[in-house]
Amino acid sequence: MHAKAASRLLHHYREHARALPWRAPPGSGRQEPYRVWLSEVMLQQTTVATVTPRFLRFIERWPTIETLAAAPDEQILAEWAGLGYYARARNLIACARAIVARGGFPSSEAELRKLPGLGAYTAAAIAAIAFGEDAVPVDTNVERVVARVFGLADRTEVRAAAGAWWPVGDAGDFAQACMDLGATVCRPKAPACPYCPLRADCRAAALGTPELFPAPKAR
Ligand code: ADE
Ligand code: SF4
Repeated sequence: MHAKAASRLLHHYREHARALPWRAPPGSGRQEPYRVWLSEVMLQQTTVATVTPRFLRFIERWPTIETLAAAPDEQILAEWAGLGYYARARNLIACARAIVARGGFPSSEAELRKLPGLGAYTAAAIAAIAFGEDAVPVDTNVERVVARVFGLADRTEVRAAAGAWWPVGDAGDFAQACMDLGATVCRPKAPACPYCPLRADCRAAALGTPELFPAPKAR
């Protein structure tokens, strides 16, 4: 049942994917690592709507990781202004230079994880979206979708369920399918279950209480 749900979601994504400038059309193959990396770093604390024009300016100014790595810090920091913490821009610069120093992007999640300031989610996202590795990037959108489909409140269980559910060979498209669904349909408040391709397979929707999944973060 859950394998069918996964293929329904993938099919839905391939028909309805948001056209975002760091995305190749779904199913068209791997996406450029530089664009995937830059977009994922920008999207960590900033919305798609804010990131989109800033991403386009950034890649127009520095079209490759090499040009970015060679740019003066103060130019990059100025271009970053308004995109969130300076620490993130500092990490971005250090990461760009480490990538160029090692001769280009590493292609596995494990090697990506060794880059300065690059966390577990980002490493998995780049490995899956840019390199087609069967990595499982779990951000808050993915976590919410998986928690609801499986009716799980506990975040550790959600991660395990995500790993088991992820379709082999389609990790990048599936991650982006979950991200789009979480942003547009399976929203934190008032999810649009009647319009969801997972409606028939979703435990939380069957229970009638999707907003209760996952449980709020302990604080
Ligand atoms: N949020 C984080 N990464 C994303 C991506 N690749 N597409 C859409 N939203 C995202
Ligand atoms: Fe989310 Fe509702 Fe879809 Fe379930 S049916 S995945 S709760 S939008």
